[in-house]
Amino acid sequence: MAQQEYKRLSDSLFAYKGSVFPVYDEYELTTEYIDSLEDFSIRDDDVFAVTFPKSGTVWTQRIVTLIYEEDFPEGKDSYTYDLMPWLEYLDKDNNYNKQRSPFSSQSYSTRPSPRLFCTHLQHHLAPKGLRERKAKVIYVMRNPKDAMVSYFHYSNMVTQLENLENFDEMMDKFLAGQMIGGSWFDHVRGWYTNQDKYNILFLSYEEMSKDLRSAVVRLCEFLGKNLSDATVDRIVERATFKNMSRDPAANYDFLPEDINDHSKGTFFRKGTTGDWKNSLTVAQSERFDRVFQEKMKDLPLKFIWDTAEIHG
Ligand code: A3P
Repeated sequence: MAQQEYKRLSDSLFAYKGSVFPVYDEYELTTEYIDSLEDFSIRDDDVFAVTFPKSGTVWTQRIVTLIYEEDFPEGKDSYTYDLMPWLEYLDKDNNYNKQRSPFSSQSYSTRPSPRLFCTHLQHHLAPKGLRERKAKVIYVMRNPKDAMVSYFHYSNMVTQLENLENFDEMMDKFLAGQMIGGSWFDHVRGWYTNQDKYNILFLSYEEMSKDLRSAVVRLCEFLGKNLSDATVDRIVERATFKNMSRDPAANYDFLPEDINDHSKGTFFRKGTTGDWKNSLTVAQSERFDRVFQEKMKDLPLKFIWDTAEIHG
């Protein structure tokens, strides 16, 4: 291991090569495994959903698995976690997932095509084979204040992550890039400024909230899936917050209490835009804005920060 690039940040997190990863005993998340992913062999029809944490990963995962539902009839009742696993969280022994689906025991290299993956990897750590611009990358971003507030609640619910006392502490970590995924700013910048190297579609959580059907249609077009209007309608219906939160295939309720402490919260928390306004003080928000403006000023990205911008 390249010791100089590894730093243990806390009981639950380590920094490595410009990103941050959780210390989850259940996963094979070693620095060697992270290194190996750069050479992970990519197939032309692979699909990757790439996100910074709390930006709509599981939502995208659900939509993409529904778009590909007909390709995997044997996976009909499988968890999205099995159908579209995380590249870096290799659940080799099914420690998290005790369900035996046709997919859960398959190694990534032997899974049938098209393979679907999620990842929080920063662009410089992602498989180099993606740069052949054949496999498809869907990059979903969310306004970072909402992603940060979502992470605060998430890390207080997940027993293996450290509890954060308040939003001052959360913001210190977020702005310093000391959370899973590393720096939000580096993550977005890395993927955005290198987009020419990839066959990539950018979507935002807020666009999905504003018009889920249009987002599903854009995804189908990008993925080359010609689905009927009725099938698209059905996907939209199944991918709403309400329906996903009670769908055992999609809601991650299979995770045991010693991983997700449900007395402290739920993964499907609010699913809204602008919730940061209920959590951050004006001073905290202004501090965030100053850093955001400084770090993002040269990128032409526009974020939606407020639910009013969604509902007009
Ligand atoms: P909140 O904590 O703000 O509610 P990720 O999957 O990247 O971890 O992102 C989790 C966030 O996406 C959570 O945000 C969760 O509620 C939200 N989310 C998941 N599915 C959703 C859906 N169908 N519609 C809207 N938001 C959704």
